[in-house]
Amino acid sequence: MELIFATGNVHKCDEARTILGPSVSIIMPSTLGFSGKVPETGTTLKENALQKAVFIWEKFRAPCFADDTGLEVDALNGAPGVYSARYAGEACSPLENVKKLLHQLQNTSVRTARFRCVIALILDGQPEFFEGMVEGKIIREPKGTGGFGYDPVFVPDGYDKTFAQLMATEKNLISHRKRALEKMVLLFR
Ligand code: IMP
Repeated sequence: MELIFATGNVHKCDEARTILGPSVSIIMPSTLGFSGKVPETGTTLKENALQKAVFIWEKFRAPCFADDTGLEVDALNGAPGVYSARYAGEACSPLENVKKLLHQLQNTSVRTARFRCVIALILDGQPEFFEGMVEGKIIREPKGTGGFGYDPVFVPDGYDKTFAQLMATEKNLISHRKRALEKMVLLFR
């Protein structure tokens, strides 16, 4: 089974390969010669996931999927949510996003948050959706060097380490993407 993953994020692809195992071959659009940016202009995770998957489907007419993830912080009424990638501004770095988040939370002890991931899968033209979530809290200082994005400040419930301090294998057991991919992979079993 070959699936195009509508992302340019190598970390996400590696995670998906590990989670889906050898029976699903994940191909990045860049491997197929696509070097542009996949559009992402929706106002919900579902809209964005669908937009990215449809874009790749229309380009390659091959089975594909896209994910969109948001970090929902309770003290910020669910922000940055769908705007997580550009929380500190267009073309900002992950570190700038993390800095802004910590700044916004500096005066609150309410630290609960969750990563929510929505996947849109298109096998034959009709989209299907899968959602996964992991609950946790935002700590006050970044810790760890693994992972990507907001991983250095997110401690999943039941753990005392950030996603960036956990081994990739540990993160992949409980992550939002794992939980969404796990639902998707049931289709192929
Ligand atoms: P997107 O799904 O690639 O649009 O991700 C939106 C934002 O969430 C980006 O800033 C990512 O860095 C962040 N993000 C997505 N997945 C993760 C994750 O597993 N850990 C930390 N940050 C993530």
